[in-house]
Amino acid sequence: MRVALMADETGWHTRQLQAALRARGAVGRCVDLEDCRIDTTAGWHGLVIPGFGRELPDAVIVRGIAGGSFEQVTKRLGVLHALRELGVPVYNDARAIERSVDKSMTSLLLHAAGVPTPPTWATESVAEARRIVMREQAAGHALVLKPLFGSQGKGLRLVGRVDGKPHPLPALKGAYGGLAYLQRFVPAAAEPGFDWRVLVIGGRAVAAMKRVSRHWVHNVAQGARCEPAELTPALARLAEGAARTLGMDYAGIDILPAAGEAPLLVLEVNGVAAWQGLQRVTPFNIARALVDDLLDRRCAAAAGARRA
Ligand SMILES: Nc1ncnc2c1ncn2[C@@H]1O[C@H](COP(=O)(O)OP(=O)(O)O)[C@@H](O)[C@H]1O
Ligand SMILES: [Mg+2]
Repeated sequence: MRVALMADETGWHTRQLQAALRARGAVGRCVDLEDCRIDTTAGWHGLVIPGFGRELPDAVIVRGIAGGSFEQVTKRLGVLHALRELGVPVYNDARAIERSVDKSMTSLLLHAAGVPTPPTWATESVAEARRIVMREQAAGHALVLKPLFGSQGKGLRLVGRVDGKPHPLPALKGAYGGLAYLQRFVPAAAEPGFDWRVLVIGGRAVAAMKRVSRHWVHNVAQGARCEPAELTPALARLAEGAARTLGMDYAGIDILPAAGEAPLLVLEVNGVAAWQGLQRVTPFNIARALVDDLLDRRCAAAAGARRA
């Protein structure tokens, strides 16, 4: 069994996965999607995955896709789509990754599926974005402006009514790519504020932690600290619903406590979730749980489909 670990950076996560694969008698080989090619003269399937010769991997785990031009990212995702079309289990599938990387698509799908999430807008019209900010501001709300493809809490900005004062929309060109992705700000329910990160593997929520910080952006990369948290049935149900909605094999779900009629709101579904912080406060080996789910559920299902 040879598994391609698609990663633009190798490190703790890829080492954890390689060790877990080894423990199951499989080999994990790191591959950068940037180096994968389409070459229709190379073999029947037309894909070249470095390190796999003329063969295809038996399975793929996606750990990172580097940013690039629209064309480069299209090709990188295209390789993942092609692997699925060629019958290789891809853990998380490219479709699921696309849905979760696009924050506006995540918001729309969660909303349409009835998964509680804050009110959200995405518009290319500056005039429309200003109208939304004015309307929300008049109703006493702040809004979070986020880069559509953002991660690790980078580039988030509060606009609208913040601490009683109006904050206008900044220029959308550049960091925001000419798109206003706006989400109603959910005020902290405790002091210091926190959110939950719940990990779902194979449809089941398996672990939770709190990310706590004085700043309203509770990402570990922004200095939040991880604390153990009980995985309550309500958190588990919500996280599992969010992962199912986006078609994720595994996902890290960001959940905020809220004062309104929905006491828990899903903010984000991470399809290439990191788990180093969560592992520190979790009693079982997360990489092993991921590999077990890949081999025992996804690969077993693919083998069953081939036999049928
Ligand atoms: N609507 C919101 N209300 C309150 N806090 C928010 C809101 N959106 C984001 N945050 C804070 O910012 C963090 C990062 O936002 P998120 O949407 O998860 O983007 P990223 O991909 O950068 O993690 C969240 O974990 C949360 O702490
Ligand atoms: Mg997040």
